[in-house]
Amino acid sequence: MQTWIKDLPKHCGETVMLKGWVYNWRSSGKIAFLQIRDGSGFCQAVINEPIPKMTLETSVILTGKVSKHPKKEEYELQVEDLKVVQTAEEYPIGKKEHGPDFLLDNRHLWLRSSKQWAIQKVRNTISYATYEWMEKNNFTRIDAPILTPAACEGTTTLFEVPYFDLGKAYLSQSGQLYIEAAIFAHGRCYDFGPVFRAEKSKTRRHLTEFWMMDAEMAFVEHDENLKIQEELIHFIVQKVLEKNQGELKILERDIEPLKKIAPPFYRLTHIEAVKKIRELGGHAKEDDDLGGEDETILSKAFDKPVFVEKYPAKIKAFYMKRDPQNTDRVLCADLIAPEGFGEIIGGSQREENIEALLERLKEHHLPREAFEWYLDLRKYGSVPHSGFGYGLERLTAWICKLEHVREAIPFPRMIYRITP
Ligand code: 4AD
Ligand code: MG
Repeated sequence: MQTWIKDLPKHCGETVMLKGWVYNWRSSGKIAFLQIRDGSGFCQAVINEPIPKMTLETSVILTGKVSKHPKKEEYELQVEDLKVVQTAEEYPIGKKEHGPDFLLDNRHLWLRSSKQWAIQKVRNTISYATYEWMEKNNFTRIDAPILTPAACEGTTTLFEVPYFDLGKAYLSQSGQLYIEAAIFAHGRCYDFGPVFRAEKSKTRRHLTEFWMMDAEMAFVEHDENLKIQEELIHFIVQKVLEKNQGELKILERDIEPLKKIAPPFYRLTHIEAVKKIRELGGHAKEDDDLGGEDETILSKAFDKPVFVEKYPAKIKAFYMKRDPQNTDRVLCADLIAPEGFGEIIGGSQREENIEALLERLKEHHLPREAFEWYLDLRKYGSVPHSGFGYGLERLTAWICKLEHVREAIPFPRMIYRITP
């Protein structure tokens, strides 16, 4: 039976079988050292007899006794039997520096490199922690459709798909509107899946296909919405710190800033944020969205995430509820992650009044017919409600401290890349 490398400490002194790949090889004549990875971890296998040179990525089955390194907290295999499953051809990814294009062209192989391995492990912890937190907090997972009849987040980033006799469909930009429908059946809901944006922006924060978690809560207003977000993000970061010490080390991620991520997060209104950014040398405007640069400036100025609340209504989505104190503004917040990372969550209280919502559709030039079902939600037991959505790659990039979100997703899709 196969033993996983991560479980070797439990089998010290026993004879076990490992199945994996050779990621490094060194021989001093009489003795050979293989570095083996099996998906769960990495270890050294010692072969006490001369063997022919092995190519990187050769797949192997090894049987031997587990021993502890005399000085380090490391376990190795004293090999008694070595079986080669396939001798790999010369592997294109080597120890030398490769450019990002070469690595992205070889993404199907690059995924095996230790850093890329570590990133996917952290991403896995983030999504698993999200499911765990949602389950503990009475949220029901609802799967939103991907083929949709209308825009959710503005019409400029829609992907169109021909759709039989009905003409056109659009790939979902966010499941939010459908999750809003579901809260009237389940109270608190979330979805988690791929979404699509025909983003013209070629920045380190944008993909055309990415994973979003949309959460939605009945009877929850703006302030409580932010509290829920803080708790979720805190929980996720704690889980990564608990489960992924080894991965964070491979990524050379300084964990001190992550340890500080506990509620309450900072809160600034958009007006206050603009003032702060301008003081710090940026060019943000009171009546405009924050740009990528502005977010970076703000993000670097705080040691914990910052909520920027109450953006100008005219630059935000049609469904956001106006701030009763100042009707040019909406009851929304973007959560800006620290260390230069920028927005990881977008959320808001939703407009629950049908008359107001009809006005908004008109202002945004959205066709009423496509939203009749959504308007129905305001006719049958409408309640104040709020929600938010996080981008999984943005969250992963921040927690792993990656330069670009493209490394946070297994197979990135960007304007100029759809292969492999
Ligand atoms: O801020 P956004 O556009 O909000 C929504 O879509 C809402 N419907 C969510 C909701 O309230 N349920 O997107 C949410 C998050 C952003 O904060 C960001 O983390 C991520 O999705 N995101 C992207 N990630 C990668 N590439 C892109 N092009 C992204 N656009 C948004
Ligand atoms: Mg946003």
